[in-house]
Formats: sequence, structure tokens, C-alpha cells
Amino acid sequence: MVCLGNICRSPIADGLLRHKVCHRELAWDVDSAGTANYHTGTPPDARMIETARNNGVDIGALRARQFSKEDFKIFDRIYVMDRSNYSAVLKLASSQEEEAKVHYLLDHLYPGKEAEVPDPYYGTSKDFNDVFTLVDKATDALINDLTYEP
Ligand code: 4NP
Repeated sequence: MVCLGNICRSPIADGLLRHKVCHRELAWDVDSAGTANYHTGTPPDARMIETARNNGVDIGALRARQFSKEDFKIFDRIYVMDRSNYSAVLKLASSQEEEAKVHYLLDHLYPGKEAEVPDPYYGTSKDFNDVFTLVDKATDALINDLTYEP
């Protein structure tokens, strides 16, 4: 899960997906990163920690890190929150195979729309709650899509 700072959107996407993967006993490794390095080593934004906690998800142990080319070797699917993340991540891909790993998280809700998870950093607590709700739906859809067996 990738956003800009790795302190608001990708931590909640990471936390929600980890929570659901654990509950469903799926053997998936989940992680998150930011395209920028402003917040490397810091916990998620206190407002995102609080919103998550209010909804029964603990993201307090996450520490921000910057996305790197190595992530393409480790992960099968790389989910970005917005178009800016998409182009920043794509620039680090070194093959078409790596490029094909990059997806918009909201593609699982709105396929092909390049829909973005809005950045709540300069917003209100409502914006943080709205991000939680959106990412909760998107991670449900992601799991449904990737575990679908006809
Ligand atoms: P995020 O939000 O990309 O969802 O973690 C932001 C966090 C920090 C900044 C911008 C967006 N910042 O400019 O420091």
C-alpha cells in the first residue's frame, strides 16, 4: 500500500488489510510505504491512529518508510492511493512485469476509473473517517476479488 507520506492513507490501508488477512487466515504479506521520505521512521499521523482505534484497528506500531525499487522484487501487487503516487512508483519499475504490478487501490471498487483516495492530511476528522470508510470498502473488495473461486 503506497501513498505520499506513509502516515495517513497507506497505514490505514495496510492496517485494515492486515486485519482482514489475519481474520481470513490468508498467507499474504502486507506492508506499506510512501513515495516521499519526509516522515521516515515516524508512526502514523495521530488522527489516523485515533480513527483506526475507534474502529477496532491498531496501526500504532507501523513506522513510515520510503518505497524503493526493491519493493518490486518482494511484492506481487503494489497498490497506490492516487495518480501522483502512481507515476512516482511507475518511474521506479525496471520492467514491464514490474509496471504491471502497480494498481490503484480503488480499482477494486471503481474498475478502470483511476479513482483516488483523497489525502486527509490537511483535512478534518471527517476527512479521516471518510478515508477509513472508503479504504474499508476497497480492502473488502480487494479480498473478494483476489480470493474469488468460481
Ligand atoms: P499520506 O498523507 O500521503 O496519506 O501519508 C500525507 C502525509 C504527509 C504529507 C502529505 C500527505 N506531507 O506533506 O507531509
